[in-house]
Amino acid sequence: MNITDQIALVTGANRGIGRQFVLELLERGAQKVYATGRRLESLDFDDARVVPLRLDLLDHDSVVAALQAAPDLTLLVNNAGIATGADLVIGDLAEIRRELDTHFWGTLDVIRAAAPTLAANGGGAIVNILSALSWFATRGAGGYAAAKAAEWNLTNAVRLELAGQGTLVQGVLLGAADTDIMADYAGPKIDPRTVARRSLDGLAEGAIEVIVDDWTAMVKAAVAGDRAEFYTKLGGLL
Ligand SMILES: NC(=O)c1ccc[n+]([C@@H]2O[C@H](COP(=O)([O-])OP(=O)(O)OC[C@H]3O[C@@H](n4cnc5c(N)ncnc54)[C@H](OP(=O)(O)O)[C@@H]3O)[C@@H](O)[C@H]2O)c1
Repeated sequence: MNITDQIALVTGANRGIGRQFVLELLERGAQKVYATGRRLESLDFDDARVVPLRLDLLDHDSVVAALQAAPDLTLLVNNAGIATGADLVIGDLAEIRRELDTHFWGTLDVIRAAAPTLAANGGGAIVNILSALSWFATRGAGGYAAAKAAEWNLTNAVRLELAGQGTLVQGVLLGAADTDIMADYAGPKIDPRTVARRSLDGLAEGAIEVIVDDWTAMVKAAVAGDRAEFYTKLGGLL
């Protein structure tokens, strides 16, 4: 995939990793970027190639309207997300549902609305921003980890379902990036721009999975190993 040919749509484009995606796409010469967010006024970009659109993952009508406004779309970046901090057993059920509604149902809603457009435009690509927490869980992130795990296997299933129309579906997995969602995390954090760079480098090579950082590579290797050993080690790591 050649990034200079692309017309992209990014969810959660107003800040964090999504904003860096927009800036990196522009730097690499993308033709147009639909920068979407919950509030139009938060989409502050100084480039004529940026088209701001309102898209709230929890508002189906806004998803349909945004995708209808992007008939030339070739690259969809599903980035928007939340972390409520809810544990599964004692946490607020409404917060846990909101995490699933956002990461699983919201992302799926956008994909379903975008898939016919991508097919009509030659296939294109979908990038889903996942997490190392798609592959393990920590205390204080039970709802988030379950939602990211669901989004990971959504990514795998959608990849198979859209292969026939030529759509590349890429899962991007990372540990901690320096954005608002990780403001309370004291450990090492990568530059959010790195996420966009690695993803777009991967798209150029046709990569279906991008492991952004060493921490996530370690988690991936550990998934194949002994679970008891992994969680014992994790207790010392976090
Ligand atoms: N940062 C990390 O360490 C890390 C690690 C692994 C995975 N991720 C994933 O990376 C993605 C981006 O996170 P981030 O680090 O950039 O977090 P962030 O700085 O908190 O940004 C989150 C973005 O998602 C948007 N958003 C939240 N709910 C939305 C909804 N219902 N509809 C539309 N937009 C919504 C936010 O919009 P508002 O400004 O309107 O709230 C904001 O633009 C998420 O999927 C997250 O799970 C992040």
